[in-house]
Amino acid sequence: MSGFTAPHCGALRASDEGHEVDLYGWVARRRDHGAVIFIDLRDRWGAVQVVIRDAETLSARLRLESVVRVRGKVQRRPNGSENPRMATGEVEVVSDDLEILSESQPTPFPIEDPEEPDEKNRLEYRYLDLRRPHMTKMLELRNKVNRIIRDYMEEREFIEVETPILTRSSPSGARDFLVPSRLHPGSFYALPQAPQMLKQLLMVSGVQRYYQIARCFRDENLRADRQPEFTQLDVEMSFCDEEDVFTLIEGLFAQLWQKILGITLPVPFPRLDIKESYLRYGTDKPDLRYELEISDLGDALRETRAEIFRKVLAGGGVVRALSVPNGKELARRELDELVTVARGAGGQGLAWLPGPMEKFLSDGEMSDVRRLTGAGENDLVLIVADRRRKAETVMGLIRQEVARRRKLVREGEWKFLWINPTYLFEEDDQGKLTYAHHPFTRPFAEDMPFVEERPYDVRAHAYDIVCNGYELGGGSLRIYDPAMQERVFQLLGMPLETIRARFGTLLEAFTYGVPPHGGIAPGIDRIVMMLGGTDNIRDVIAFPKTQSMSDLMLGAPSEVDSEQLDELHVKVVPPQKASS
Ligand code: AMO
Repeated sequence: MSGFTAPHCGALRASDEGHEVDLYGWVARRRDHGAVIFIDLRDRWGAVQVVIRDAETLSARLRLESVVRVRGKVQRRPNGSENPRMATGEVEVVSDDLEILSESQPTPFPIEDPEEPDEKNRLEYRYLDLRRPHMTKMLELRNKVNRIIRDYMEEREFIEVETPILTRSSPSGARDFLVPSRLHPGSFYALPQAPQMLKQLLMVSGVQRYYQIARCFRDENLRADRQPEFTQLDVEMSFCDEEDVFTLIEGLFAQLWQKILGITLPVPFPRLDIKESYLRYGTDKPDLRYELEISDLGDALRETRAEIFRKVLAGGGVVRALSVPNGKELARRELDELVTVARGAGGQGLAWLPGPMEKFLSDGEMSDVRRLTGAGENDLVLIVADRRRKAETVMGLIRQEVARRRKLVREGEWKFLWINPTYLFEEDDQGKLTYAHHPFTRPFAEDMPFVEERPYDVRAHAYDIVCNGYELGGGSLRIYDPAMQERVFQLLGMPLETIRARFGTLLEAFTYGVPPHGGIAPGIDRIVMMLGGTDNIRDVIAFPKTQSMSDLMLGAPSEVDSEQLDELHVKVVPPQKASS
């Protein structure tokens, strides 16, 4: 069979007229006209119309999605029957030699239907879902992104180094996936959440410019832009400062957008301090395709008669507001829906002006509110009073929701920005100090003298790259002084034994001549999502997991034989026992 070198169905054009061709593909459509059958024959490159003469004997077996070989002649379609919607629409292949290589039973969903099949069905039969031309394009797009990345990095003398998948836990803020060791009873490998420590060790090795298209594994709650298993463009470089990282990554994004979408991104990307980002947009990944900005009303309302605002402010909380353009026309129902959004994010609710709260505010306070929020005659001011983090989260979501409902998002725009600088520490859900990125992030040297008194004010040489509300990547310059690294571990409350056990290798390596270094890891899945115009990460991964981390096609995770568990020295405690 020489189908491998045969012409592609999707590539035939008018210039191929008169050629005898062998074509291989799937029957995408068929129309019977008595003794003549028309089929669209599809391969990865597209589909072409084939006219089969004397097809009576074949007809019953020539089912949709069967795999066939066709020999025939490329002809121009008769005048008036061209199909401008097909790239091959000027021609057809006339054949009286068709061989069915493999018959298809009816597929669980139509492959050619422009309507998206139900996702559960798609994931269960992913191999058929990927046959859909839209999904084939996604696979090709992803491949192209990887190729552009590799070329770009190689041109700049980065080398790709593969790091292990069976490794040891390294902190990245999520749970590890563990693999039991057969040869070391009771010991486990961890799958990498990211090759963070290894890429830093490669800098000690003198690699200087490292990259890897690296698979990462995180056992965390899934969202539309998260998978338990995902891919990063992992980068680390020696003797660099932040500007080097920014220039490298801006150049890469500019190339990707240029080569794939034909769009010229303006570089450098703007930068936004993280505090400012939370204050103005209520998030660390602001969507700047719309103008809405949040304002702080603390100074205006500290003495107000409106008890709720005064109390929150006196208790160290904040009052934040957002002016909704022409918001006075919002129906009560819509306001109630916004309140539901606020409550869903853990907020108490929302106040609005003009509205019931107005009678508690003085004229001066009202005019301050208008001035600070920039609210005009027909605008409505939405207000949240709460602890700072909560108020910011709620306002961030309200801002998003208002933009969506009021159709303020300028589709087609690409608003890249850097969030930088950021802070070294943040509060975890229990109010305890934790690292904001990972514990290897380099603090601002000039902020270290006050780290004990005001740890949350210590800035870090860290950055996130954000586009249209998505965090596309994050990174930092790293600590390379072992004493400073130990200090940060201690500030994080890690006992000495833990530090030695988990990070001893890194600390020791830093005593053998370590170059100052830094890096970043853009998420490839999210980049492909943006370039492919989808907001579902599962569309850009060949075999993704569901929201509940299952692979519906292969049925993973699955139970295993007890012999296998015995060999691994693993005993399963059924959940009901564990909870009792
Ligand atoms: P970070 O944890 O910020 O940094 O991750 C970097 C980028 O990886 C992508 N990403 C994900 N994509 C899909 N599903 C997930 N579950 C998921 N988690 C993260 C995002 C994110 O911006 N080692 C550091 C980088 C460094 O400091 O160099 C790291 O992993 O696009």
